Amino acid sequence: MALTASDVTIRFGGVVAVNRMALDVLPGEIVGLIGPNGAGKTTFINCLSGTYRPNAGSALWGGDELIGLSPSALLRKGVARTFQNVASLHDLTVLDIAKLGASVRRDRRFGGHLLDFFRSERALEAALTESILAPLELTDVAHKPIQTLSYGRRKAVDLARALAGDPQLLLLDEPVAGLTSHEGMAMAKAVRDVRDRLGCAVIMVEHKMDVVMSTCDRIAVMAAGSKIFEGLPAAVQADAEVRRVYLGEP
Ligand SMILES: Nc1ncnc2c1ncn2[C@@H]1O[C@H](COP(=O)(O)OP(=O)(O)OP(=O)(O)O)[C@@H](O)[C@H]1O
Ligand SMILES: [Mg+2]
Repeated sequence: MALTASDVTIRFGGVVAVNRMALDVLPGEIVGLIGPNGAGKTTFINCLSGTYRPNAGSALWGGDELIGLSPSALLRKGVARTFQNVASLHDLTVLDIAKLGASVRRDRRFGGHLLDFFRSERALEAALTESILAPLELTDVAHKPIQTLSYGRRKAVDLARALAGDPQLLLLDEPVAGLTSHEGMAMAKAVRDVRDRLGCAVIMVEHKMDVVMSTCDRIAVMAAGSKIFEGLPAAVQADAEVRRVYLGEP
């Protein structure tokens, strides 16, 4: 299914945080969303994921309107997100979090309870460990509480939660920020692999330009709430206005 967002607008007091934002994402496509701090990238993701209700606009997903749905209703439709700042306040283990993420699947793909499909808790855990935790290099910490993990690993757990639900539309808010370059490469590869495996549509907000350039099929640039450019990675890199607004060139 494809996403067609149009005219998405949200105001906070006098600030128009997102201003008539439009973005199309096709199945199997990874679209990068870049722009300076405060451009409205996270707020746009919040509008698509049910965290905020925009003042105006539409986000059609295979003909269904996503705007106005709750985060849990969106999850059941296959819309999953990750967070720019990951919380770590609880003592659930990595595997617990993956199982929570997977629990949304029972309404959708399998048509029954997830455990009926996997027959046993152990079979479910084995499947999640192999398909979700291993590619994110989380197998060795599967039974550790997430609050004991490094920042980079907690970000990987946040992605594992989102991926465990077999998303159709994946909204990633700076998945690589704060990671070591090794962790960042594993994260970017996991995103490309899940796109290949599930054919899902992906929006990836990210500042790290090498990751954006090597991961995204297309890139949209936001500044002060609006989209100022959209195109192939090479075109974005070559555009003088983008270089001035975002890359800080004169
Ligand atoms: N709940 C809120 N209340 C008031 N203002 C908000 C709220 N959420 C976002 N904003 C404002 O909206 C604007 C866009 O912020 P947003 O967090 O979306 O930027 P961003 O592009 O994600 O930036 P960064 O790259 O730093 O993460 C900012 O001016 C911010 O202060
Ligand atoms: Mg942000």
